[in-house]
Amino acid sequence: MKPYVAPEGPPFLPEGLFAGKVALVTGGGTGLGLAISTRLGRLGAKVACASRDVEHHRELLARGERDGFEVLSLACDVRDAHAVRRTVREVVERWGGLDVLVNNAAGNFIRPSLALAPRAFDTVIDIALSGVFRFSREAGRVMRERGGGAIVNVSAPYACVGKPGVIHSACAKAGVETLTKTLAAEWAGYGIRVNAISPGPFQSRGAADRLWPSEELERAVLEQIPLGRFGTVEEVAELACLLASPAAAWVTGTIFLADGGWSLPRPLVDPGERGVDRRKS
Ligand code: HXC
Ligand code: NAP
Repeated sequence: MKPYVAPEGPPFLPEGLFAGKVALVTGGGTGLGLAISTRLGRLGAKVACASRDVEHHRELLARGERDGFEVLSLACDVRDAHAVRRTVREVVERWGGLDVLVNNAAGNFIRPSLALAPRAFDTVIDIALSGVFRFSREAGRVMRERGGGAIVNVSAPYACVGKPGVIHSACAKAGVETLTKTLAAEWAGYGIRVNAISPGPFQSRGAADRLWPSEELERAVLEQIPLGRFGTVEEVAELACLLASPAAAWVTGTIFLADGGWSLPRPLVDPGERGVDRRKS
């Protein structure tokens, strides 16, 4: 897999945007989560990272030390409601509150529905949907007390249309989008904004290992992206941070699609430059 090198450009969000803010990112030690927690930290936030394996938080801790932002590494399985409550409490005890929650943790693999093992569907739903609810509820309680906050969920473009081979993830993400809009409506009065980003295929170890584990499969995915490349975690992270920031203070309940055109309609047959025309000329 050749890593895509994003074109250099000035950072979109201004320095200090999250100064004094406290953020919590689930699955914040790898892939997209690592890019989001790094960016929030570099923009001034204190960042808590929660996932099952704290070994996965090493790179974030190193970046925090190098770039001068505070990181709190917490072991938490989003499937354990008590652990989720403890995790949010620990952040509040350490830093006095919680302003931003990013529900990034999820699980996925490709398997046709009829071939799924007995626990497979429930496992992915428990992580990628119920886990989002558990963290949102605990964070929502803290944010309500504090007078507001921002929650950003991570969906996928197949959420509401489905995708053969990933029924568990597609159903979970559909739930995440419904949850996003429902909580946005319920909590607007508390000053809590709830939004989601919906990225198309981007390169992460977790996705590459499970969804496009060979060069051939990777190429097949790439061919489905009209803009001709996978996304980068940095560009998706920038959009997540935008939604979490005061720049999006009037935005709630939105699902922000960023997929290089992956979910756009494709032609019935390739019409070529001149179209398909069997008339005699
Ligand atoms: C088929 C599998 C499987 C696989 C697990 N199972 N992995 N079936 N293929 N690769 C089945 C098992 O047989 C078991 O059912 C059930 O699922 C639970 O598996 P466990 O190994 O016990 O679960 P656990 O250790 O908790 O791991 C959770 C996981 C794992 C979701 C299965 O893949 C994981 O930890 N993933 C986290 C990282 C990840 O997936 N990142 C990719 C994100 S990309 P039985 O009945 O046998 O017990 C993404 C969106 C991409 O989400 C969108 C692209 C556009
Ligand atoms: P990733 O690096 O594998 O991220 C998954 C993260 O979730 C890991 O850090 C993992 O940490 C954590 N996690 C998994 N199960 C958990 C659990 N039970 N409790 C707590 N944490 C758990 O993959 P990614 O591609 O960056 O995915 C990040 C998000 O983007 C996910 O929501 C995914 O669905 C979404 N997404 C990805 C793509 C893509 O093309 N890659 C496209 C659309 C959407 P631990 O292993 O330490 O627990």
